[in-house]
Amino acid sequence: MTIQWFPGHMTRARRQIEAKLNIIDMAIELMDARIPLASRNPMIDDILQRKPRLILLNKADLADAQVTARWVSFFQEQGIEALPVDSVSGTRVKEIVPACKALLADKIEAQIRKGMKPRPIRALIVGIPNVGKSTLINRLAGRKAAITGDRPGVTKGQQWIRIGGELELLDTPGILWPKFEDQQVGIRLAATGAIKDELLHQQDIAFVIIRDMLGTYPGQLQERYGLESLPTDPEDNEQVVTVMEQIGRKRGCLQSGGRVDLDKASTLFLNDLRSGKLGRISLEWP
Ligand code: G4P
Repeated sequence: MTIQWFPGHMTRARRQIEAKLNIIDMAIELMDARIPLASRNPMIDDILQRKPRLILLNKADLADAQVTARWVSFFQEQGIEALPVDSVSGTRVKEIVPACKALLADKIEAQIRKGMKPRPIRALIVGIPNVGKSTLINRLAGRKAAITGDRPGVTKGQQWIRIGGELELLDTPGILWPKFEDQQVGIRLAATGAIKDELLHQQDIAFVIIRDMLGTYPGQLQERYGLESLPTDPEDNEQVVTVMEQIGRKRGCLQSGGRVDLDKASTLFLNDLRSGKLGRISLEWP
C-alpha cells in the first residue's frame, strides 16, 4: 500500500460527528453489502456510542443474496437491525422510514402519551466515501438533494434533508475513512471501486479476488470467461496466474509475441466484477 491511514483524519471526523450526537435521534450506517466489514470505519461503534442505529447493506443488488441474508442475521444477533437496499433502483428503500420508526417506537410513544405531536426523526447518515450515501439521500428525498460523484470524499454542504414529514437526514459531517491501511481491506475496497485504482496494482487486486473466487464462486468465473478447466488447487499461486492468463486470452488481452497482457486482463476482470457482469458476488462472509 502506498497510502497511510492518518489518525488525524479520524480525530477530525470523530469530533465533527460527536458535535452532532446531541441533536440526532439515531444513526443510519451504510455498508457495502459485498464487504460489510471492509466498508466500515473501524471506530464507528465507538464514535456513535449508544445511539440507536439502523444498518443498511447498500448495493445489495451486486451482492450474493444468500450471504447478505446471513449478514442481516449476524447484525440482528448483536441487537442491530439491518436492511439490504439498492439505492440506485430503490429496492427496499421504502422500508427505511418504518424501520427508523420501529427503532424509536418507545420514544415516539412517550411523546404521544404526553400529548405531543411526534416530530420528524432526526437521523445522521454515516458511511465511508463511495458507499452510496448521496445516492440513498437522493432516492429517499425523490430529488437531487445531495451531490453524488464517483470520487471518494466528495464534500457536501451540511443541511437537513426532509423525507416526507417523518424523517430528517443529515449527511456525514467530514469524511469517515475505512481502514485502508490494512492490506486485505484495501484490496476489497479497491476491488469494489470504493478506493481509487491507482493506490494498488490492478494485478495484485485481481489476483487476490480471482484466487478467492476460485474457492467461492468458481462457476461464475468459468461461465463468464468460458474457462475450460479450473485449478485443482486454488491456493497454488501459479494455477491462479494460469487462470488470469486464460481470462486475458479469452478477452484478447495479448501483447506482441502472443503473451497475455496481465495488466489489461486484470483491469477488464475488475470492471466486470464492479459492474456486476460476473453475477452477484460477496467478498466477505459473517
Ligand atoms: P457517497 O455519497 O457515499 O460518497 O457515494 P455515492 O452516492 O456518490 O455513490 C458512489 C457510487 O456508488 C455511485 O456510482 C453510485 O451510483 C453507486 N451506488 C450507490 N448505491 C448503489 C446501489 O445500491 N447499487 C449500485 N449498484 N450502485 C450504487 P458511480 O459509478 O460513482 O456513479 P454513477 O456512474 O452511478 O453516476
